Amino acid sequence: MNYLHNRFQKEADKMAQDYAASIPFDQRLYRQDIKGSTAHARMLAKQGIITESDAETIIEGLTLIQEEIEQGKFQFKPELEDIHMNIEARLFERIGDVAGKLHTARSRNDQIALDLRLFTKEEIAKTIGELKTLQSSLVELAEANKDVIMPGYTHLQQAQPVLLAHHLLAYFEMFQRDKERFHDCLKRTDVLPLGSGALAGVSYPIDREFVARELGFSKVSTNSLDAVSDRDFIIEYEASAAITMMHLSRLAEEIILWSSAEFGFIEIGEGYTTGSSIMPQKKNPDIAELARGKTGRVYGHLMAILTTMKALPLAYNRDMQEDKEGLFDTVDTLHSTLRVFAEMVKTIKVNVKRVRDAIKKDYILATDLADYLVRKGVPFREAHSVITKLSEYAIASDKSFHELSLSEYHNFSPLFTEDVYVITLESSVAARNVIGGTSLQQVEAALTRAREILRQAQNDKVCHFE
Ligand code: ARG
Repeated sequence: MNYLHNRFQKEADKMAQDYAASIPFDQRLYRQDIKGSTAHARMLAKQGIITESDAETIIEGLTLIQEEIEQGKFQFKPELEDIHMNIEARLFERIGDVAGKLHTARSRNDQIALDLRLFTKEEIAKTIGELKTLQSSLVELAEANKDVIMPGYTHLQQAQPVLLAHHLLAYFEMFQRDKERFHDCLKRTDVLPLGSGALAGVSYPIDREFVARELGFSKVSTNSLDAVSDRDFIIEYEASAAITMMHLSRLAEEIILWSSAEFGFIEIGEGYTTGSSIMPQKKNPDIAELARGKTGRVYGHLMAILTTMKALPLAYNRDMQEDKEGLFDTVDTLHSTLRVFAEMVKTIKVNVKRVRDAIKKDYILATDLADYLVRKGVPFREAHSVITKLSEYAIASDKSFHELSLSEYHNFSPLFTEDVYVITLESSVAARNVIGGTSLQQVEAALTRAREILRQAQNDKVCHFE
């Protein structure tokens, strides 16, 4: 009986231990953890809190542990709970009791905050780089199809003609704002939390500025309670990621629509589609569909971390251990989606004829006909109502605007003259020559600007990790 009780108790303990362990996922932070510990040990020695030779022994031990991990020789143990304790326990095995000096003037609470900030900074730099690459692919595709006119849509109804390049450059703008958001998120991530201790600061004469310099942080946190319990930088990364995924998902949706038989505007490279086993005519846009689908999980992670944080009293609470898996999955999903999109966009072939033919009748020029009357002195609202009636008539008689005779036009307004036939898709596009408009002149200026932004960004290091 006693024996059985013990056994069950042990099993229950083991279950709780596994439940609490973060090592299955936070082992991913080993590099940041060792980097942080190395800088911390250097600072402790510089401040005379430990001896130089102890610091050297510790740093050598940490270096060897990093090698073990990278060679796959390190045994991660769930009973040691997390990455910090796994590394520290191994340090004891390798260098003996001096290992116990490393955790002076530090707590796992400021240590995990540090690891996560180091990690997030690196991922922000990568994300911004990938956004740039995707922008370049879009610029190339726009450039290659610079004067292709397509129907522009509102409500997915043909509205006004636009240049395909103009449409593609709209995504350039979205990804430009996304980059700015990540740059902005970097500012608040780039703050050193180490030195906050468990929650109140530490009682040793540490040099936080030195650690910040060693680790490449531009600021030091100014409130210890906040520093150990703040996960805003993760929330900001995930919020920015959610917005970027939303943009990618919109692009995905258009790629899916445009490659359908109904639209037929584009063809995606074979590597990015799959055939159907029973319907040979199909080329499924799987990659675009998956990106659209994965957007959901990124939104989910954002909602999860917001919810985890929302009622936590200061300072650290174990709930916060839940921040990691969502962050890791967000980072992985965003990186892979951005990378695969940059390549997929390069394979897109535009079917110029289909794009053009999609504008079946020239009813898409209705706004231009209204503008024509406005230029002849008709107030816009009235011109609009005249053209509405004219369009209804043209549609009912199955004629395009160009097929209507001048006398048919005159049934709607005496102001129409021969020059109404000069209104074409080309003239419509060319007329929209305002900043941000779709005229070729504006689109060429936008392309030049886009290339300039990408060229400047090349020299612009996001942070020292890049
Ligand atoms: N594994 C923990 C986490 O990820 C590290 C900090 C633990 N601190 C503590 N006092 N138990 O949040």
